[in-house]
Amino acid sequence: MKVIITGGGGFLGSQLSDRLLARGELTGPGGRSEPITEIVLLDAVFHRPAADPRVRQVAADISRREAVFDAVGRDAATAIFHLASMVSGECEERFDDALRVNLDGGCNVFEAARAAAGRPRVVFASSIACYGGEAMEPANSDRTKLTPQTTYGMTKAICELLVNDHSRKGHFDGRSVRLPTVIIRPGKPNAAASSWASGMFREPLAGVPCALPVRRDQCHPMTGYRTVIESFIALHEVPEDRLRDDRAFVLPAHRVTPALAEAVIKEVAAERGLKLGPIVDAPDARIQGLVNNWPQAVDGARAVRLGLPSPPPLKTIVEQYLEDFGPRRA
Ligand SMILES: NC(=O)c1ccc[n+]([C@@H]2O[C@H](COP(=O)([O-])OP(=O)(O)OC[C@H]3O[C@@H](n4cnc5c(N)ncnc54)[C@H](O)[C@@H]3O)[C@@H](O)[C@H]2O)c1
Repeated sequence: MKVIITGGGGFLGSQLSDRLLARGELTGPGGRSEPITEIVLLDAVFHRPAADPRVRQVAADISRREAVFDAVGRDAATAIFHLASMVSGECEERFDDALRVNLDGGCNVFEAARAAAGRPRVVFASSIACYGGEAMEPANSDRTKLTPQTTYGMTKAICELLVNDHSRKGHFDGRSVRLPTVIIRPGKPNAAASSWASGMFREPLAGVPCALPVRRDQCHPMTGYRTVIESFIALHEVPEDRLRDDRAFVLPAHRVTPALAEAVIKEVAAERGLKLGPIVDAPDARIQGLVNNWPQAVDGARAVRLGLPSPPPLKTIVEQYLEDFGPRRA
């Protein structure tokens, strides 16, 4: 079976590819488990060459319809994970590009899935940025009205609706994972308005200062990358008869403040003899303004009922990050 991962050169896409290679199989459109024979990674940029003969990297812009159709192909036994996206900060600065990449690109992936033989399963990476404004609730669930207050969130909400409607029409078998902010992203800060969420762990753990653009008591829903990768796969594997007309599932998450993050990394640092860099207040009105319109908590009970995993304790997420990306591996 062939697996397509758009955004396969990115943080989550590259880890999803590694996890699928290790797993070796997925449920095919016919409902039977099939060996993974090829993984096609479609991304604008790749930071490392493919290390497994089953992986093919396709460097292309998702908004180019022919490139997406070529990468997806016409095979019946196909699974598609659609992760390519501009991030929130970029979408806010570049409205036209956000529509081209996130909406036109999404439509290209969905049309290519529709054109493929059989009914491929399509897993779409959405975001809790779909929530926003006065409709938000103390804990936002799959029943909360989606009134995103960012261009990024708007594109994600539209793609969720497209996934539902293509599935209703029988074009493909779609599912959307509405992701909380995923920690701890390795490497450098990115242009996401939530970049501080990883930075407040990553920079101090690397012994360097972290400039914190939001309040110390700013609460934000977060989960770990290992749980997210397992969730993509788990949602792909759910039999279609367990899904009804709303195929978007918000994942369970921890409610994390910078104050809590600091307490947890201090505990880990004390146990491991690490010298932490400081978290320095650097209020940024633009970031704080965007974050003010994001949910502070989510209710992922519906995803859990479907069998999707909950994140481990925050301290475990930090320990997993050090295991996977810490100084000893650098
Ligand atoms: N990481 C998070 O905290 C988080 C939270 C909510 C939702 N998400 C969603 O999960 C998905 C994966 O996130 P990630 O953290 O791996 O992000 P990422 O930025 O690391 O990966 C996204 C990839 O999309 C690619 N891309 C961007 N524009 C493209 C284009 N025009 N054509 C082809 N490829 C293009 C980028 O090069 C990048 O490799 C995204 O859809 C993101 O919106 C992530």
